Parts: sequence; C-alpha cells; structure tokens
Amino acid sequence: MFLFGEHAVVYGKPGIAMAIKPRVFVTVRNTPRAQKAKSPYIDGCFEAMGVVGSVYINSQIPSSSGLGSSAAVTVATLCAINDEFKMNKTREDIANMAFEIEKTVQKGRASPTDTTVSSYGGIVLISGGSRRRLPPQNMHLVIGDSLVSHSTARMVEQVAELKKKHPEIVDPVMNAIEGVTLAGIHQLSNPRELGRYMNMNHNLLEVLGVGNNQLGKMVLAARSAGAFGAKITGAGGGGSMVALCPKPLKHRVAAAIESCEARAIVTGIDTEGARKEKNV
Ligand code: MEV
Repeated sequence: MFLFGEHAVVYGKPGIAMAIKPRVFVTVRNTPRAQKAKSPYIDGCFEAMGVVGSVYINSQIPSSSGLGSSAAVTVATLCAINDEFKMNKTREDIANMAFEIEKTVQKGRASPTDTTVSSYGGIVLISGGSRRRLPPQNMHLVIGDSLVSHSTARMVEQVAELKKKHPEIVDPVMNAIEGVTLAGIHQLSNPRELGRYMNMNHNLLEVLGVGNNQLGKMVLAARSAGAFGAKITGAGGGGSMVALCPKPLKHRVAAAIESCEARAIVTGIDTEGARKEKNV
C-alpha cells in the first residue's frame, strides 16, 4: 500500500509503500494436469516458473481495491510454487519475477513498488531503479475501500495524458509530490507531522485528477474523526484511501469512513513479507 508518491513513481520519482495486514494465503500442489487459473497473474506465475500445478487462494484483500492485491497474490503464488517444487529461488528472484509478471499483465505500466513490499514486508523506499527498506514503524492505520472499482492502467494513462497536455502544471506537481515523499522519510516515527504530509500528498493527487467524490468524502470524514492525516492510496479514481490515526481513535475513524458507505479495515504494518505458513 502506497504511503507517498503514487503516480509520481511512474515518472522516476521516489515513492514510499508498506506491507499491511491482512495477508493473502496461497496453496500450490504439484498435480500432473494444469488447473486453469482465473487470473492472468497466476497463469503468469506458473509460466514464469515453468511448471504446472493446481492453486488455491484465500485472499482477505479486496481485489481492485488499490491496495496492491494483485502484487500480493503474485508474490504469494510464486513463493508457494517455489516451495512445492523446491526451486530454491531467493526473495529477490521472487520480487523481480513478480514485477515482470505485473508489468506484462498491465501492458508495461507498473512500478516495482507493490511487488517489492509484498516480497519483503515492512516499509520500502522506491527511487528510480533502487529499493531500500526503511526502519519499520508501528503505525495505526485505517484503510477505506470506496467499493468503487477502478483500473490502475486507465488512471496511469489519464495522468500521462494530462502531463502531455499540461506539462507546465503537471511537472511541478510531480516535483512537489517528490518533495513531500522525501520530507516524509524523515518523519516516519512522528505521526502528527507524517499526517500533514499525507494530506499534502492527497491534495496533489487531486490536482492530477485521480480523486473522486467518494474518496474525497472518506478522506474528510477520517480527518474530522481525528486522523492525523488521510489520503488516496494507489491509483485513485476509486479504490482506497488510508488514514493515519492516534491509537485510541482508530475505531472512531473506521466508523466515520464506514458512514460514507465504504468498507473500513483497521490495520497496521506487516514486517515479514512473504513467508511459508506451515506444511499442510
Ligand atoms: C498504483 O497502485 C500506483 C501507481 O503509481 C502505479 C504503479 O506504481 O505501478 C499509480
């Protein structure tokens, strides 16, 4: 889930993202006949690993929610194949393969952000081609799923068109998002200040045209209920927002979000990333 820098990362600006709970559970079995998966991401995983098998997925992350569920499913499926077929791929191999699969399915438009956080867990700074883990923080977060479906590829394209038409407006906004992201790095353990940067990042995303009424209402409701900050997370145009809250207020913020006819998830950081659950 993006904390800062969505859309700007597509143009080589830095972005900060973190792995959140809930997790995605994937079980893979070495079966002689391939079971046709319903998702191009999963088919991509078997193809990339060069094996056939069957797969069972239990995901508590709503798909198309803007929370990086496709990346989480892709990374978990690759890990499960790696384990079942004893392929000895490293975490880095898995992160790289997941990124390539996302990129293919999304027709070239993807940053390695979500696949990196799903693989490694914790908080990751993406900057150009480099990825750096930032010290994990205990954050009290509420995710609001607007229940409005969206397409990341379409939103990315919309921003690209705006940038082409109005570089004199969009380029400084991208620079400002970069500024907010870089400032955020130094305030990760200071939620009051971090919340302020999240609000700024939200407003800049609105300028890019990826907000909508529903997300706007949810962001304002979360702030009114006492959140330190709230913003769209991911591509926007639907999907989700995230609020950073004082611990005692997180349920109040969740209720305020739900009063906007949205689904709220009280959550926190997941520091472990992809892991083998147990032998089943
Ligand atoms: C989508 O979750 C985030 C975007 O920045 C696209 C990407 O990074 O792949 C809009």
